[in-house]
Amino acid sequence: MSDREELVRFGVSFPAQLIGQFDSFIEEQGYQNRSEAIRDLARKALLEPTRLKGDEFVAGTIVVVYDHHVRELPVVLMDIQHDYHHDIVSNMHVHLNHDQCLEVIVVRGRMASLRGLHERIQIQKGVSYAELSVTFAEPHGKAPGGNGHHHGDAHTHSHSDRAHRSE
Ligand code: NI
Repeated sequence: MSDREELVRFGVSFPAQLIGQFDSFIEEQGYQNRSEAIRDLARKALLEPTRLKGDEFVAGTIVVVYDHHVRELPVVLMDIQHDYHHDIVSNMHVHLNHDQCLEVIVVRGRMASLRGLHERIQIQKGVSYAELSVTFAEPHGKAPGGNGHHHGDAHTHSHSDRAHRSE
């Protein structure tokens, strides 16, 4: 959060049991106080992928795990990415083990387009994990306030149903 941002104070009432659970949760996460934790939760809620409008301009990653032995899959994934070359900034490929590849695709573009890309990757047979994570961006690569990235910028994840199950 920018130091120049004006802070607005407001009171929040929690049931005693809930605030106890919340305090334990935020302590595990490393938060020093409730305010910062609540701010991060609010940012995360605002960036929920299902809530973001299709014309919202965002930047983020698609993390993919797949089995490169599945017939045609590496070529299919390559073709899909070429279809979205305007939205893809960079790509990292890691050979996880004998069968599995991990790819991190850095994306920047309209939410609707990135959703389309994520969905096309996710539905391929042999893709065991596909996660789209985004944060707000400006169309010309200029961040609000002019300096790239603030610590604590909210981001969010959209997990495929198959996430984490097969490994
Ligand atoms: Ni590989």
